[in-house]
Amino acid sequence: MFAIDIQGLSKSYKTKRHLTVNALKELTLSVEQGEVFGFLGPNGAGKSTTIKCLLGLIRPTSGTATIMGDSVTGDNYRRKVGYLPENPAFYDYLGAEEYLLFVGRIFKMQEELLARRTVDCLKLLELWDARKRPLRSYSKGMVQRLGLAQVLLHDPDVYILDEPMSGLDPIGRALVKDIILDLKRRGKCVFFSTHITDDVEKVCDRVAIINRGMLQVVDKVDNILQQGIEGYDVRTTAANGQVEELFIEKNALQSFIQQSINNQTSIERIEPRRKNIEAFFLDVVAQQ
Ligand SMILES: Nc1ncnc2c1ncn2[C@@H]1O[C@H](COP(=O)(O)OP(=O)(O)O)[C@@H](O)[C@H]1O
Ligand SMILES: [Mg+2]
Repeated sequence: MFAIDIQGLSKSYKTKRHLTVNALKELTLSVEQGEVFGFLGPNGAGKSTTIKCLLGLIRPTSGTATIMGDSVTGDNYRRKVGYLPENPAFYDYLGAEEYLLFVGRIFKMQEELLARRTVDCLKLLELWDARKRPLRSYSKGMVQRLGLAQVLLHDPDVYILDEPMSGLDPIGRALVKDIILDLKRRGKCVFFSTHITDDVEKVCDRVAIINRGMLQVVDKVDNILQQGIEGYDVRTTAANGQVEELFIEKNALQSFIQQSINNQTSIERIEPRRKNIEAFFLDVVAQQ
C-alpha cells in the first residue's frame, strides 16, 4: 500500500471574472511509506493546489487520491495525516500550550497522552519558554514552529507539509530538517513542497518537479546527483614528486586511473564536480 497515491488529479479554478485557471493537469504520483518526498516547483506551479486536494480542502475537477489506502473524499484518512498549511493561522489570543491541547481534543486524543505529547512537542520545537504567551506576540518563525508542533502532536503516519522551511532562519531550517530525518528513521512518510532546492538535496529520497500544473520529472535524488556529474577534480603526485591538479572529463576517468598506475603517479584526491539540484531544477523549468 502506498502512503500517498494520486491518480490523474486535475484542478481548474473559476475566477471572479469567469476565467478558468488550469492549476493542475492530470497529476499521477505515488509515495511510499517511509519515504521523504520533495515536491519542487516555482511559485504558482500548483504545489499548494495539489496539497489542498490531498487534504480534502478543495475538490479536484477530476482524478482521485488516497492516503494510507483511504480515499481523501472520506473521513477515515484524517487521523493518519498531519498537515502544515503554507501560512498557518491560529487563534492568536491562545498560548502555544493551550492551542496544542485544543488541537489534541479535536483529534480526540486521550488526555494523559495529549498532556505528554504537548510537553514533548513544545520542547522539541523550542517553544517551551513561550508556551503561555499569546500567539499574537510570536515571531513568524515561532508561528511556523507551532504549526509543526501541531503536525507532530497526534503522531500520524503521513506528513504533508506546504513549504515547511519558509520563513525560518538557518537554525529553524536545520531543526525542521532534523525533524524530517527523524520521522524518516521512524518509518513515516513525509511529503513536502518547497521552492528551495537545497532543502531537497539534504533530506529527500525522491523529488518531483512540477511546473505550470504539470509533472515534469520524478526521480531519486541520488540519480539526479549522479547524472549531474560533469567530471572530476583530481590531484596527483608524479614519481618525481611533481604535484598536479587537473580536471578529468566524466568518461575519461577509467583511462586516467589506468594511465596513472602505468606512470607510477599516485592519485591523492578525486572529487566529482557536479550540477546540484538547483541547476537541474532550473534546466527542467527552462525547457518549458
Ligand atoms: N482560489 C484560486 N482561484 C483562482 N486561481 C487560483 C486559486 N488558487 C490558486 N490559483 C492559481 O492556481 C495556480 C497554482 O497555484 P498554487 O497551487 O497556489 O501554486 P504554488 O503553491 O505552486 O505556488 C496559480 O496560477 C494560482 O494563481
Ligand atoms: Mg504554494
